[in-house]
Amino acid sequence: MDFLKLAKERYSCRKFSDKPVEDSKIDAILEAAISAPTAKNIQPVKIWVIKSEDALAKIKACTPFKWTENVPVVFAVGGKAEGAFVRPSDNRNFEDVDASIVAAHMMLAVQALGLGTTWIGFFDVPKVAESFPDMKGWDMVALFPVGYPAEDAAPSDRHTLRKAQSEMVEFL
Ligand SMILES: Cc1cc2nc3c(=O)[nH]c(=O)nc-3n(C[C@H](O)[C@H](O)[C@H](O)COP(=O)(O)O)c2cc1C
Repeated sequence: MDFLKLAKERYSCRKFSDKPVEDSKIDAILEAAISAPTAKNIQPVKIWVIKSEDALAKIKACTPFKWTENVPVVFAVGGKAEGAFVRPSDNRNFEDVDASIVAAHMMLAVQALGLGTTWIGFFDVPKVAESFPDMKGWDMVALFPVGYPAEDAAPSDRHTLRKAQSEMVEFL
């Protein structure tokens, strides 16, 4: 598919059908994640695929969003500062950039596979760490509840509110 078409058709899906997500599609999302570039190729990123009933109940309890309730799988993405690239001129650690690039690859792969998701950044971090001790010490940048969009799923009003190129871009 043409990339610009894919990017423009993607929207934050917040209504899902009950249809399960095939393992082959979960694997394709993970392959897209692993193909993402990271600073110095250090890949200081970890992805958790949350699929069991118990784990799904726990992760869904960490967000205030009721619309996650019937999704069959949630991906959690974290970055680790330790060992990640640090830019010498200002000591900036790139773990969050790396984890976000991986996450963006995953979000677009979801769209390309005919699935839907929303990048969730608003969640209870201490509760996530308490429910999933393995995530402690990771900078959790995203949760992606993934499923097939419901027939009447639609973009929110915010989706169309884009800045003009002239506001975001400067040619020098
Ligand atoms: C880093 C990040 C965090 C976000 N966190 C949330 C969130 O916690 N809950 C939510 O409903 N949407 C969340 N969103 C979705 C944005 O609200 C959405 O992308 C934006 O309004 C544009 O709409 P669109 O994705 O439909 O184009 C997040 C998006 C990004 C990129």
